[in-house]
Amino acid sequence: MRTYLVAGNWKMNGSLAANAELLAGVQAGRADAAGVELLVCPPAPYLASVAAATADHDIALGAQNVSEHASGAFTGEMAAPMLREVGCAYALVGHSERRTLYGETDAQVAAKFEAAVAGGLVPVLCVGETLEQREAGNTEAVVSAQLAAVIDRVGADGFGDAVVAYEPVWAIGTGKTATPEQAQDVHAFLRASLAKVDEALAMRTRIVYGGSMKAANAGELLAQTDIDGGLIGGASLKAEAFLAIATHARDAAGA
Ligand code: PGA
Repeated sequence: MRTYLVAGNWKMNGSLAANAELLAGVQAGRADAAGVELLVCPPAPYLASVAAATADHDIALGAQNVSEHASGAFTGEMAAPMLREVGCAYALVGHSERRTLYGETDAQVAAKFEAAVAGGLVPVLCVGETLEQREAGNTEAVVSAQLAAVIDRVGADGFGDAVVAYEPVWAIGTGKTATPEQAQDVHAFLRASLAKVDEALAMRTRIVYGGSMKAANAGELLAQTDIDGGLIGGASLKAEAFLAIATHARDAAGA
């Protein structure tokens, strides 16, 4: 049985005061999502303070990005061992905003993935197609190439307990959500792709959905066989909205 993961990607939002308020709200309702793993990924300057605030509350911490290098002359970058030292358990790798706005290639994402694992972090590997790619019928080819770049580099053993996040680019921050069927189809395809490499890997890997997930659509999405949680942007910035999604995950786990 895979434990549901509900992850908040705060992106470049927040402040000390706003984070404290958000975390207090999530902590207050944490018990409603018992059995669901909660993860928050704040902007890097806040990692240490969020680590201190979440330490006793069963909320995991993740970085939004990680360097492919372990240390050295890489101005502005953050190494996995550093993130681990300040309390991160996870790192997002290859988010579509990193790929499109900062030019991260499949090869670089694979190197980041490997560096995250080597530094003791669990990568959340983001994959997803653009609207143009979907309309051209290339969804499977795109996500399969994104996944293969990582598998080819690290192998089944190097994949460890990594999480895969299917995030159709056209659904991120747009208010458009993949239908439960559209999402399930891609999740099942990703799991089948993992199974070709290693059956046990496919069974244990959590594949979460991201892209305008909110309380109103989370129930149906999380009820799908191959959807093991969510990676949530906008709706993770409000405690109530984030917890409502986590509660749907709890219900899906119990169903
Ligand atoms: P969204 O973002 O929920 O605001 O669409 C999801 C993501 O980018 O991870």
